[in-house]
Amino acid sequence: PTEKPKYRIGFSQCSTTGSWRQAVVAGMERELSFHPEVQLRMLDAQDNSQRQQQQIRELLRGGLDLLIVSAYEAGPVTPAVQEAYRRGIPVVLLDRRITTQDYTAYVGGDNLEVGQAAATYAARLLHEQGSVLELLGAPGSSATAGRHQGFTQGLTAFPNMRLAAQVTGYWNAATLKRPLRLALQAHPEVSLIFAHNDNMGRAAQEVLRDLGRSKQVRIIGVDGVVLELVQQRVLTASLLYSPAGEDAIRLALKILNKQPYKRENKLSTIVIDSTNVLTMMQQREKILAQQTDIELQRGLLQTLRATYASQQTVLNGLLAT
Ligand code: FRU
Repeated sequence: PTEKPKYRIGFSQCSTTGSWRQAVVAGMERELSFHPEVQLRMLDAQDNSQRQQQQIRELLRGGLDLLIVSAYEAGPVTPAVQEAYRRGIPVVLLDRRITTQDYTAYVGGDNLEVGQAAATYAARLLHEQGSVLELLGAPGSSATAGRHQGFTQGLTAFPNMRLAAQVTGYWNAATLKRPLRLALQAHPEVSLIFAHNDNMGRAAQEVLRDLGRSKQVRIIGVDGVVLELVQQRVLTASLLYSPAGEDAIRLALKILNKQPYKRENKLSTIVIDSTNVLTMMQQREKILAQQTDIELQRGLLQTLRATYASQQTVLNGLLAT
């Protein structure tokens, strides 16, 4: 039966490429499978703030009960989010923020904490002494600002750790390679790269290989979704940045159902390295297996319901005669 949805949630994603973004969507779908009364409409801005503004307005025109946004760049996307918020539509910010307080709640990782943890881990790896290169995301993304601030703050605790170079990678593995190669050539003393996400970290590894420096330079990334990168030592470590898709839907439903909720929901990070990556992989397998079980049981339940409904019809028919 095609029932009218009780709630229409719009999701404006800055991008859908990359494993992390896909994990966000997968998490949302998992949670939504328990809520057939909710309809989700997602639009992908493909890393373009102008397009994202248009898409938010398009979602508004289509009719919305709640808006979830992951803003490509905080500044340019803010006006469209404000429009929604000021019309009384609750707004949940997922992972990336806007520049004003015009939102209902935030859910996502703590980028300051991520940057600080990366600095502490880098210092431990280099025995508190050495030169590092920071590979940044897009300058306008709030995650870039937070990770950078946390990283530089974290490094100040180690006077012999030097931030020798910075390269803006724009979250883009293809375009960062050339500027990164030039920076590494100009800084032969660099022995560690902090990449603002694992995808850029992977690209950095390829650049190092081309330069014949993979053995000398270690890489730490952020996300922890593709655990194989750590397991295969492409990255020495990754700071977990929880995709928060499930959390965003749960938060949205609390807001819509007028239940109590927290405005700031920061998910904490952990370091994933060779000491715990196998445990993490096992846990991931377990969760996937449980998910398959849940789906199977839901299927069985549906069959039972259908059987019950048809038996009721038969019964009602019998009773009527
Ligand atoms: C994907 C991504 C993630 C990163 C997050 C930061 O678009 O770059 O890799 O952790 O966004 O907002």
